[in-house]
Amino acid sequence: MSDQKIIAVIGATGAQGGGLVRAILNDPSGGFRARAITRDPRSPVALALAQQGAEVVAADIDDEASLTQSLQGAYGAYCVTFFWAHFSPEKEQAEIRNMARAAKAAGVQHVIWSTLEDTRQWIPLSDPRMPTLMGQYKVPHFDAKGESNAVFIELGVPTTFLYTSFYWDNLIHFGMGPKRGPDGTLTFTLPMGDKKLPGIAAEDIGRCTYGIFKQGSAFIGQSVGIAGEHLTGAEMAAALTQALGQPVRYQTLSADAYRALGFPGAEDLGNMFQFKHDFETLYCSRRDLAVSRTLNPALQTFAQWLADSKKRIPLE
Ligand SMILES: NC(=O)c1ccc[n+]([C@@H]2O[C@H](COP(=O)([O-])OP(=O)(O)OC[C@H]3O[C@@H](n4cnc5c(N)ncnc54)[C@H](OP(=O)(O)O)[C@@H]3O)[C@@H](O)[C@H]2O)c1
Repeated sequence: MSDQKIIAVIGATGAQGGGLVRAILNDPSGGFRARAITRDPRSPVALALAQQGAEVVAADIDDEASLTQSLQGAYGAYCVTFFWAHFSPEKEQAEIRNMARAAKAAGVQHVIWSTLEDTRQWIPLSDPRMPTLMGQYKVPHFDAKGESNAVFIELGVPTTFLYTSFYWDNLIHFGMGPKRGPDGTLTFTLPMGDKKLPGIAAEDIGRCTYGIFKQGSAFIGQSVGIAGEHLTGAEMAAALTQALGQPVRYQTLSADAYRALGFPGAEDLGNMFQFKHDFETLYCSRRDLAVSRTLNPALQTFAQWLADSKKRIPLE
């Protein structure tokens, strides 16, 4: 047991980190131990992780000292931020700095940082195709992460840059599932036209991440994109139809119409979907399915994810 390398997992009680903790715990002879980082070790989810064999340690990504303490003795660290908890790119960037500085101070040998593209590399602020948001972003929750990759590089932290995909779990937790219209028919709405959207079961993000840690130093300094499948909205609706046993119609929306939906974050997500739509080839090619499957042989397709998860999709 003492030979096992500790992987400290930020967000361990959430989607990405939780999948990684479970992947480590499910492979007891894999040479790694899970340290679950949470703000509240007494929460039911944290207690359940402890019960399953994880070491549970308190830290807050807004508090660099607590993070540094929580990473002591760890070989690896999974770093992720929680944009939708506060909607502030500046706060997210400060949190990323805290994580990178803490990993450096604790001497962590391999950080996997869950980042996303800085879309301004492809759509500069001067590009009128989509509105500039908050004065300096196109897709705030992407741009803040991508811009902050530089912090890990500048500090010399041995880092793998992990580019994740749209969680299919958004159909359960993010209100993106099919909606029943006045005629009783289910409609799945996505502003992607006929373009493919890379998607993944959230649980598979952790499993792919574990696959990267198992490769040792091979992926340090590298960018890795992961997805379970690249599917059009029509293909997703067809899979939903099959899984739910009732017709699900695909409806696309313009990016402008999506941005105007008015819920918190609608403009950010509208720009995000437009970026994925307008740069389909580039965005998909950065999320290679074969690489994802090599890292995680249990990688699920959308149909496989639906078979297990369809009952949890609210069908209003
Ligand atoms: N939804 C998608 O399709 C998608 C796709 C790609 C990327 N992303 C990105 O994924 C990120 C969110 O990751 P996730 O979905 O794994 O999050 P999540 O499931 O919402 O997990 C959040 C967990 O993080 C912990 N947490 C929150 N604030 C914290 C803080 N200040 N310090 C320490 N821990 C904190 C909480 O744990 P405790 O309460 O136990 O502390 C919570 O359980 C976002 O930045 C988003 O942009 C999302």
